[in-house]
Amino acid sequence: MRRTRRALATVGGLVLLATVAAPAVAQPSGERGLYEAHAADAEQRTELVRAGVDVLGVRDGTVTMIATAGQARDLRADGFDLDRIGDVDRMLAERGTGTRAAADEFPPGDEDYHTYSELTDELQRTEADHGDIARLSSVGESYEGRSLHLIKISDNAARDEDEPEVLFTCNQHAREHLTTEMCLRIVQRFTDDYGSDPTVTELVDTREILVIPTVNPDGAEYDISGGSYHGWRKNRQGSGTDLNRNWGYQWGCCGGSSGWPYSDTYRGSSPFSAPETRAVADFVDSRVVDGTQQITAHLDFHSYSELVLWPYGYTYDDTAEGMTRAEADRFRDVGERMAASNGYTPQQSSDLYITDGSVNDWMWGEHKIFSFTFEMYPASAGGLDGFYPPDERIGPETRRNDEAVDILLREAGRGAAA
Ligand code: ARG
Ligand code: ZN
Repeated sequence: MRRTRRALATVGGLVLLATVAAPAVAQPSGERGLYEAHAADAEQRTELVRAGVDVLGVRDGTVTMIATAGQARDLRADGFDLDRIGDVDRMLAERGTGTRAAADEFPPGDEDYHTYSELTDELQRTEADHGDIARLSSVGESYEGRSLHLIKISDNAARDEDEPEVLFTCNQHAREHLTTEMCLRIVQRFTDDYGSDPTVTELVDTREILVIPTVNPDGAEYDISGGSYHGWRKNRQGSGTDLNRNWGYQWGCCGGSSGWPYSDTYRGSSPFSAPETRAVADFVDSRVVDGTQQITAHLDFHSYSELVLWPYGYTYDDTAEGMTRAEADRFRDVGERMAASNGYTPQQSSDLYITDGSVNDWMWGEHKIFSFTFEMYPASAGGLDGFYPPDERIGPETRRNDEAVDILLREAGRGAAA
């Protein structure tokens, strides 16, 4: 609320100084601090979210977050006891070499992560090696014009067969690089192991597996530019939109996103104002064939906290418009089974804090697609480090989700209704 009033005051000032080219809203002071605060329940955590801070993780009622000096001041005025852990950009700079000019590689020790061009090469190689079961295309372009790759894996991949379609999306948030590797693991496993692994073979034969390994390639490339990580979350449109607050179901409804463009949870100027969410949504809309949505299940990967989350995120209620008791029970049942397989903690997403405009709410609310979020490794971390596990973790932490992926693919055959 306070932010809005300040922004309006600035706009008023600009009317008088019409020749001054300046942004129409207050800019942050320039420093991002890492903070901890105690927030025992979801209501308290939503108060933090409402202030526009970037919640990194929650463990036993302790929230780790990134906040600007102004946000920290506001929250302290509201009675929160904030502990300042350090300066985010200094902590990040200490990790890298700072010597590289271009985003041509991850920092030293993390080279096994895929840059956008390495990812593109890998997907093209997959299609070349497995042309019968893999088809590479695109759902559109990012703000900076990068192709938003889509790879379809199924027997007779060139044909649209009458099989349940399951969508996997990764890397909505730029710095969550482990998730891109997760989508690549799905691609590699369902192509390389086809014909030798009976589960893989059966699922490829009876499903259409759709994978978008990076929804936010611009942000991911920016995050590794210059030889050190930047802790960047949003896309690269203006001062950045949080893609997972930009989806068009109950957009901006409930204090689960920010209207301040410099916030890390900025929801954008309107639903689907980001080309990346627009492109993925258009693709999903296009899968309505003869009045029936072909995609029956969806999984969006994030990091970190080791959680299995399901809708709705915009309300604390477990049933709401478009979510019956039976449907909520099915989300919980499948969510708990997936969590039992990978050791994550299962919960309705709003048990953590309220989000509005998230992908799961849109997929379910708009299309009745059975849609989950996984927050990957690690369970907890001192802050930004949680986004940047060493590349030795890629193998174990992506394989860890093989069984959960299989559970969802099997579940997708049961249709949308409980
Ligand atoms: N951490 C992710 C995000 O902030 C997923 C949020 C899931 N929804 C929720 N209500 N916690 O976008
Ligand atoms: Zn995320």
